[in-house]
Amino acid sequence: MTIRLFHCSDVHAGPPFDPVVAERVLVEAHAYAPDVFVVSGDFVQRADIPAQWATITDWLKRAPQPQFTVPGNHDVPLFHLWHRFFHPNVFYHQHIHHDVAPVLHLDGVSLIGANSSHGWTIDGGNLTKAERAQLLASADSCPPDNRRIVVMHHHLLTPPGLGRRNGVRQPMMIARLFEDAKIDAVLSGHVHLSYVGHTRDLVPTLRHGSIICQSGTTTSRRGKGREKHQFAYNTIEITGERMSIRRHLYDPETHTFVEHVAHHEYFKPW
Ligand SMILES: [Fe+2]
Ligand SMILES: [Fe+2]
Repeated sequence: MTIRLFHCSDVHAGPPFDPVVAERVLVEAHAYAPDVFVVSGDFVQRADIPAQWATITDWLKRAPQPQFTVPGNHDVPLFHLWHRFFHPNVFYHQHIHHDVAPVLHLDGVSLIGANSSHGWTIDGGNLTKAERAQLLASADSCPPDNRRIVVMHHHLLTPPGLGRRNGVRQPMMIARLFEDAKIDAVLSGHVHLSYVGHTRDLVPTLRHGSIICQSGTTTSRRGKGREKHQFAYNTIEITGERMSIRRHLYDPETHTFVEHVAHHEYFKPW
């Protein structure tokens, strides 16, 4: 049994959004026919602007189903301070999903959402004590033989070449939490640069660790580092103990995404 995920991130409807690229992503996503279409946050550029939500909900409506999403920091309003501090995910709930930390059990793989986007930081992420407890409970609810994959907007580890970027707060503690929850892999975004790594790069003493898979920005012109002005998504195939992650980058000449790198990672037994 193989589970296929189409992992995109940081679609950013608004000024950075490229509608031509966004249409091409839909064509390729339907051609890939994933088991789940995953978006790891930052649906809009500015959550206070209703037109940006309209753009992205129209795009999501035409993307493959089922979909699995979590909010990003740009999905939290910036100017509407009441909402920002007391109802940071109000627009996400209204337009994208009622749950910021959903769980989806498939045949062999469980997806566990973690909400790292809150109103009291500008750019960085955090998992509160309650959210960490919820993640452990969600992990406990997984069928025993399923691979456990967390989807969370903020990154644990900044890819080389980017300097300091605000990721999730206390990343080493979060890596240990993932170890306790027997999380096999985490899918993230936020830095606008594709990356594959491992939580043991962060905490070498972890016995098992979790595979880290980050998608670059799929439809915004704000790619970073070596993906400056580039658009990216990942396709992920999970078969038994193998997780194959393929990075696709947009080629404007052929108006297609081209596979650039394939990583074949292997899950260790717990
Ligand atoms: Fe972003
Ligand atoms: Fe972000």
